[in-house]
Amino acid sequence: MNIPSRAAIIAGNWKMYCGPMQASSFAQEVVPELGLLMHQYPHLLSILCPPAISLTAVREVIDTHLFPRIELGAQNMYFEEKGAFTGEISATMVRELCTTVILGHSERRTYFGETDEMVNKKALAALNHRLRPIICIGEHLQEYEAGKTGEVIRFQVQHSLANFPAQYTSQVVIAYEPIWAIGTGKAATAEGAGNVTQLIRQLYGEMYGGDAASALRILYGGSVTSANISEFVAHPDIDGALVGGASIKSDFVEIVRKTIEVMQQ
Ligand code: PGA
Repeated sequence: MNIPSRAAIIAGNWKMYCGPMQASSFAQEVVPELGLLMHQYPHLLSILCPPAISLTAVREVIDTHLFPRIELGAQNMYFEEKGAFTGEISATMVRELCTTVILGHSERRTYFGETDEMVNKKALAALNHRLRPIICIGEHLQEYEAGKTGEVIRFQVQHSLANFPAQYTSQVVIAYEPIWAIGTGKAATAEGAGNVTQLIRQLYGEMYGGDAASALRILYGGSVTSANISEFVAHPDIDGALVGGASIKSDFVEIVRKTIEVMQQ
């Protein structure tokens, strides 16, 4: 069996789908199937990220089964600890239910005005509360077409991932999600995504040193399905996927199955 230096992650970003009842019934369907797969291969985590209002419902399903390495993640949180911030949730609140939090998703950046500075504050708050942040970065179509991907990624890495305390740098997960690939059915190629993940690892190494860069997990996201996941996870620099649309279908289980197949080769 191939033992990777970094355990892979397949995370499902359910976005604004599935209230508590629907989330519970979907979790009851997929968690047992995922559990059987997780028993087959120990170097993989699967993380379900439903909307905040549905976290408790999914937590209950996960807790009734006690399968290893099926975790729960939130899709966002605020960086302040508590206070008059209507509609927000804090790292302490997320930590009661979750191991993980997605931060700086391009939909948050585009529709809710999140900046690299805000994402950085959120990432620091998550790390200080022992939450694993999955920090999303990626370029717009116009930037991609203008050959500016490297420049955009460099700026986002340097600003979203700044000032991490040394003891936490290996907890960080980055999701490289080219914005033109999200929800469009037009995934990047594994080679193209692999080149960007190599650049991210190099930049992280410049900031935090070689050991932190080798421990850093970098996921690909953008139109991942069971039909293309194998190519991505076969790339040595890609440590898994952040899955959107396909994560609220049974295809998610297939994505995990295919990932295990590749990892076991
Ligand atoms: P998609 O979304 O898989 O539907 O393209 C990915 C994401 O937004 O994380």
